[in-house]
Amino acid sequence: RDRQPIIAIDGPAGAGKSTVARQVAAKLGLVFLDTGAMYRALTWLVLQKGIPMDDECAIAELANSCSIRLTPSEDLKSPVRVWINDNDVTTKIRTAEVTSKVSAIAAQSAVRQALVKQQQRWGKEGGLVAEGRDIGTQVFPDAEVKIFLTATVSERARRRQQDYKKQGQPEVSLEELEASIKERDGQDSTRLVSPLMKAADAIEVVSDGLTIDEVTTGIVNLYKQCLTHS
Ligand code: CDP
Ligand code: CDP
Repeated sequence: RDRQPIIAIDGPAGAGKSTVARQVAAKLGLVFLDTGAMYRALTWLVLQKGIPMDDECAIAELANSCSIRLTPSEDLKSPVRVWINDNDVTTKIRTAEVTSKVSAIAAQSAVRQALVKQQQRWGKEGGLVAEGRDIGTQVFPDAEVKIFLTATVSERARRRQQDYKKQGQPEVSLEELEASIKERDGQDSTRLVSPLMKAADAIEVVSDGLTIDEVTTGIVNLYKQCLTHS
């Protein structure tokens, strides 16, 4: 093999991809790549510059010229830092405004081309756990382990509500959260370019009723099995 193994984790919003991917990476000494954070960072920049969401030319230019960096933090509880053009946008990319606009930006083919190219450059040597929507299908189609991580909409809304509570953010109703999750899932799965979809060779994990540690251990074991069989 000319590179280290790759674990690809795809799935809908709130399934637990970031949390689990980060723990799996820490356990196995691999790099964690949160591709959603990249689409969010670009969305933040588009909003900050006041570029209309449908100005695909201007957005394409920005996608090709901006510099996105993800810097790890040792502490699994503090977020991985996200930078775009030297702005620390770690918390700014999690606002409701960015969340409601990100799928429209992520549907633009020039945006995907630019960000996927960057992801593949970072993953050239392998040795990473990447999570997103198109990792197993487009970004790293030859990943050694592919997981499609899901949970029911109500469970995912409940998790998001807990996340907001813990962060001390204003309470959002479960109905509102379910509606926003469904809308984003719909947009992400029906777009023309690289829609959210389970790769044919991915293992589906439904995480309702499973703890983070259980999901993490399951993936770590799959990875170890795959290494001994290759
Ligand atoms: O964490 P959450 O599931 O809310 O979303 P995310 O992983 O941060 O991704 C935000 C959005 O970026 C998604 O709703 C997709 O529209 C887009 N995305 C994508 O198109 N492809 C990826 N590989 C990752 C994210
Ligand atoms: O990245 P994605 O949007 O798929 O999910 P996330 O940002 O990792 O958020 C999932 C939330 O559900 C976090 O608060 C986790 O602590 C929680 N959770 C989980 O990820 N996995 C479980 N099996 C149970 C809860």
